Amino acid sequence: MTISQKMQDALIEQLHHELYSANQYLTMASYFLKDDLDGFANFFLVQAQEENLHAMKQFKYLHDVGGHVKIQSIPEPINHFTSITHVFEITLAHEKKVTQSISNLIKLSLQENDFATHTFLQWFITEQVEEEALVNTIIKKLKMIGDNSSALYLLNDELAKRTFDSQSE
Ligand SMILES: [Fe+2]
Ligand SMILES: [Fe+2]
Repeated sequence: MTISQKMQDALIEQLHHELYSANQYLTMASYFLKDDLDGFANFFLVQAQEENLHAMKQFKYLHDVGGHVKIQSIPEPINHFTSITHVFEITLAHEKKVTQSISNLIKLSLQENDFATHTFLQWFITEQVEEEALVNTIIKKLKMIGDNSSALYLLNDELAKRTFDSQSE
């Protein structure tokens, strides 16, 4: 099985988006650790691990289909946040961009008649649906919480329970 140069380049670009995502979520985790919101920090640490796993899935696939990967520079993530809600709004906007970029890859795989890559990408588009839904739910909860700090700590406790599962993710 060989992959076209165009498809390979596009997947490598996506792999860089995943690495960028991991860095974005790591800096968000640090923002919460600074304020001792360990549950929120945990949510983003797990998120960062998932993004690294996405990059590794693409790395492995590219080699399985005869490609190779040259890692280039990754832009600096957003490092300034004004509120908890702001962090989640940035997350949602970012995930929507990633969904668009996966959709573009799927379109390209069809143009290239690359059905192996088309199948490979199905997992990622399903994952995007889940990620957007998860972040949307948290934004709704944050809106309900408003400035009620005890409710905020309950959400913090809930997010502390999230674990990284390298098998299912
Ligand atoms: Fe991802
Ligand atoms: Fe993501």
